[in-house]
Amino acid sequence: MSDTTPRPDDGALARLAERSIRLITDLQTPEGAYPASPTFSAYVGYSWLRDGSFIADAASAAGAVDSASRFYGWCADVLERRADSIRWIVAESRAGRPPAAEHMLPARFTFGGEDGVDEWWDFQLDGYGTWLWALVAHLERHGLDGDAYREAVALTADYLLASWQRPCYDWWEEHAQHVHISTLACIAAGLESVARAGLVDDETVGRIRVEAVEIHRLVAEHGTSHGHLIKWVGSTAVDGSLAAAIAPLGFTDAASDVGRRTIAVLEAHLVVEGGAHRYLGDTFFGGGQWPLLTCFLGLAHLEAGDRERADELFLWAASTATPELDMPEQVPSHLIAPGMRQEWIDRWGPAATPLLWSHAMLLRLGIALGRIDPATLSAAVAQHTPIPAARAQEEALR
Ligand code: BGC
Repeated sequence: MSDTTPRPDDGALARLAERSIRLITDLQTPEGAYPASPTFSAYVGYSWLRDGSFIADAASAAGAVDSASRFYGWCADVLERRADSIRWIVAESRAGRPPAAEHMLPARFTFGGEDGVDEWWDFQLDGYGTWLWALVAHLERHGLDGDAYREAVALTADYLLASWQRPCYDWWEEHAQHVHISTLACIAAGLESVARAGLVDDETVGRIRVEAVEIHRLVAEHGTSHGHLIKWVGSTAVDGSLAAAIAPLGFTDAASDVGRRTIAVLEAHLVVEGGAHRYLGDTFFGGGQWPLLTCFLGLAHLEAGDRERADELFLWAASTATPELDMPEQVPSHLIAPGMRQEWIDRWGPAATPLLWSHAMLLRLGIALGRIDPATLSAAVAQHTPIPAARAQEEALR
């Protein structure tokens, strides 16, 4: 993919948008989970809180209200079923005995809401903040009542309030020894959202106010370098996920010095000919360019008032779709570590395609830009007879 790659025209974009929302709603399981990818060997059968929350946020923005609500209902069920374990984690943490990482909540679950049986880099906190943030955005966007979520929200808030300072795996399920700034942004955005929306009791609101100030202070003092956000406390590098701290999470103000410098450094360090890398030093599948991160950066630019750049990034992301209109996790262009690509293909097969999170971010940015009309999409979802998830998966596998 390069600057000379043809960008899709309006008709192609409309088809891609419709395919995106249908993939999301058709592949949603009867329990309400969104699979990360129906075909990629290492992801099959699992739903991540991180991917799923951003997928639900896009579904909500696209007018697939019921689909998004069903996902948040699935999250609530997953959390309520772990109430005893969460209360134990919180009590132990408050007593100064934070449980080891393997006793903390996982990053992904089976569709039935169980922990996975495969080994995974599970201790990640960001998704727990992101589901709270996305839930409140959904309730506010559609004027919905949040009472049914109160128990799960309270459990999540207690879990995060007790654990946010801890190092854990990042968005990329790496570097468990660090405290990641994007993770803190997800946690703070989630906690502040449920406090603002009155989804937790007054005592919890009070604790959230105190801890949110601490998170912002930590990031201001140790989560920036040369005036921009950094990958983890003590690093000097950036990570593509930091764009999300600006938009859609709103943790960092796009118009602030830190916001503007972060966008500039992400562009300078991670974007090549319109597509964003995860971070310098990425070797996963050779370290290609990620359409979903390119869309997050587009959202940050849009929030900062640069519609033109946001539009360029959107068109680059759209141009990564396959002829079948599947969006990949990454494209093998401008690889950072070309020698590593084959090793991953041998291990897990070709890079995940379709990846629902990529489709979601394309929709989210396209709608924010006014390039995708949610009314057309919700009409398409309403008229469409969903094929059973199992058959959709089978078709995707063909
Ligand atoms: C990515 C995660 C993502 C997961 C499922 C991993 O390779 O690093 O960010 O949640 O895939 O899409």
